[in-house]
Amino acid sequence: MRSTPVPLTLLGSAADPATEKGVECPGDLPAPSDPDLVERARAARAALGSRAFVLGHHYQRDEVIAFADVTGDSFRLAQQAAARPDAEFIIFCGVHFMAESADILTTPQQQVVLPDLAAGCSMADMAAIGQVEEAWEVLTDAGLAESTIPVTYMNSSAAIKAFTGRHGGTVCTSSNARRALDWAFAHGERVLFLPDQHLGRNTAVRELGLSLDDCAVFDPRLPGGGVSASALAAARMVLWRGHCSVHGRFTQKSVSEVRERLPGVQVLVHPECTHEVVTAADLVGSTEFIIRTVNAAPAGSVWAIGTELNLVKRLAQEHPEQTIVFLDRAVCFCSTMNRIDLPHLVWAMENLAAGTLVNRIEVDGEVARWARIALDRMLELPG
Ligand code: 13P
Ligand code: SF4
Repeated sequence: MRSTPVPLTLLGSAADPATEKGVECPGDLPAPSDPDLVERARAARAALGSRAFVLGHHYQRDEVIAFADVTGDSFRLAQQAAARPDAEFIIFCGVHFMAESADILTTPQQQVVLPDLAAGCSMADMAAIGQVEEAWEVLTDAGLAESTIPVTYMNSSAAIKAFTGRHGGTVCTSSNARRALDWAFAHGERVLFLPDQHLGRNTAVRELGLSLDDCAVFDPRLPGGGVSASALAAARMVLWRGHCSVHGRFTQKSVSEVRERLPGVQVLVHPECTHEVVTAADLVGSTEFIIRTVNAAPAGSVWAIGTELNLVKRLAQEHPEQTIVFLDRAVCFCSTMNRIDLPHLVWAMENLAAGTLVNRIEVDGEVARWARIALDRMLELPG
């Protein structure tokens, strides 16, 4: 099997439309030190009024969340984008694949704007459409494609969502992965899960009761994915070898150290963490689950949270009556989520208010049509 090379580009320099990252962001940005930045943001937001709707993912910086009309995880933001047909501009403070989904779910008259085009996602970049098509050929050659349902995590390009739409599959987020897998197993014998091996494995093993032996890892950089045809045939879950570069860095040691440091601590982690970390934790769930759990916890609760740092810091600020710490001292912010900062948001809003459309995210018509089929299947999953 030929393997498709994925070009490497530095964030914010050069353009590579085939991947999520490395797209230049044009524009004369205000200086981050501009003392009038917050005032400029307020004025631009007021000038746009109801023409704009600002979505903020929970992993965004506080300075950006302050201007979000609604905050949420990727599932809630997809629903919110679809529910705002009157807003001319959807300003998406999140990452590229989320803005693509918003474009697919909104009307053609609406324009989705990503304040920094270099806000991609390293996990989404781990599955390029050419690689996924080659993997499907491997499954086809093994006589397995017909009985395999592709399920892609929201954190993937529109082209991959379209691929799942064309091949009878669906999209999932960390909030509905279990329901998406239940749906998929009602339609086929095995699932090709893209691109996050950890969410796929954790959901299959923890929530569906499959065993680790039911999972095979498909490495797109190896001939035939590095798995034999018989191992593919035996697998219930074929897991793409991708991961989140933030959540993937928490370790079992992070969990044991925090337990020593903070007696009585409850460890709460996102299912993008490795299976070892998730197994060592007390509670596991999506970003929305993490927020709900902390919001409902009594005063005096002690938490070590394994997810993006902006969210953990915000939870700690909002809940001074609890002790909330970040699970690991060495893990840092999601660098691409953090690319959206107040200067980029101000720049985008001021341009829109002045009548200049900047950083529009527009998904090609045929790709959008198939991706929409996959996204609609997700939105229709039983609650
Ligand atoms: P959710 O928003 O689905 O929790 O995903 C987490 C994430 O890593 C987003 O990039
Ligand atoms: Fe991608 Fe992970 Fe960052 Fe989410 S937190 S945008 S999955 S790299």
